[in-house]
Amino acid sequence: MTDRRVLISPSLLSCDFARIAEGVEMIEAAGADWLHVDVMDGHFVPNLTIGPPVVKAISKVAKAPLDVHLMISDPAQYAEAFVKAGAYVLTFHWEVAPSVEESRAVIAAFRAAGVQKVGISVNPDTPVEPLVELFDEVDLILVMSVFPGFGGQKFMGEVSSKVRWLRDQGYQGWIEMDGGINGETISECAEAGADVFVAGSAIFGSDDIPATISEFRATALERMHVG
Ligand code: DX5
Ligand code: ZN
Repeated sequence: MTDRRVLISPSLLSCDFARIAEGVEMIEAAGADWLHVDVMDGHFVPNLTIGPPVVKAISKVAKAPLDVHLMISDPAQYAEAFVKAGAYVLTFHWEVAPSVEESRAVIAAFRAAGVQKVGISVNPDTPVEPLVELFDEVDLILVMSVFPGFGGQKFMGEVSSKVRWLRDQGYQGWIEMDGGINGETISECAEAGADVFVAGSAIFGSDDIPATISEFRATALERMHVG
C-alpha cells in the first residue's frame, strides 16, 4: 500500500449550482484531484440532481477529471451520454445490477460506450464478496459510507471493514469512499485501504478550503501506511 496515491474528489453536490464554473475553478485551485459529480434520478435514490447537459457544461470548464457517480436505475442506457459529456470515471451501483452477470453486462455497455475508467459502487448494507469476481474488470470500487441520495449525512464507520476485506483479497484498483468524510473520518478510511476520498459538505463548508484539502491529503497519506 505504501506507493499508493491519495486522490481527493470534492463533491460538486455541495457547490453553488448557480455558480458551478466558479466552484470548479476554485476547488481545482484549492488542490482537488478529481471532481465528483453526483447524478441522481429520483428513482434509484429519492432525489434528483443533474444529467448529461450539466456534466458537459462542467467538463468545458474543468481541468480535473470528472468522477461521475451514477445513482440511477439504468446506467447502461445513459453510459454513452455521460461519456460524451466528458466523464472520466463512470461508476454504477451494484444494487441496480445485483449479480455478477448483470454487472458484467453494465460494464460491457460502459466499455462499448468508450468509458475510460469503470467504477462499481455498493451501498452501506450491500456485501462486497461477489465483487471478487469483478476485480479484473473494474478500475474502481466505491464503498458508500452513507446511503446515497443526500450530502451532509453521518459517516457509517462499519463499512470500513468492507474496504479492508477487499484489500485483503488482493484488490489493487482504486477504492473510493463517499459520504460523511471529514478530517477525522478520513483516517479510518485510509487505514482500511481506501485511496480516493469524496467529500462534499466538509470541503465546501470549510472556511479554508485549500487547507482542508491539504489536511485531508496529509492525514490520508499518513494513515494509509498505518493500515
Ligand atoms: C451522497 C453522494 C455524496 C455526497 C457526499 O449520495 O453520493 O457524494 O455528495 O456528501 P458529504 O461529503 O456531505 O457526505
Ligand atoms: Zn457521490
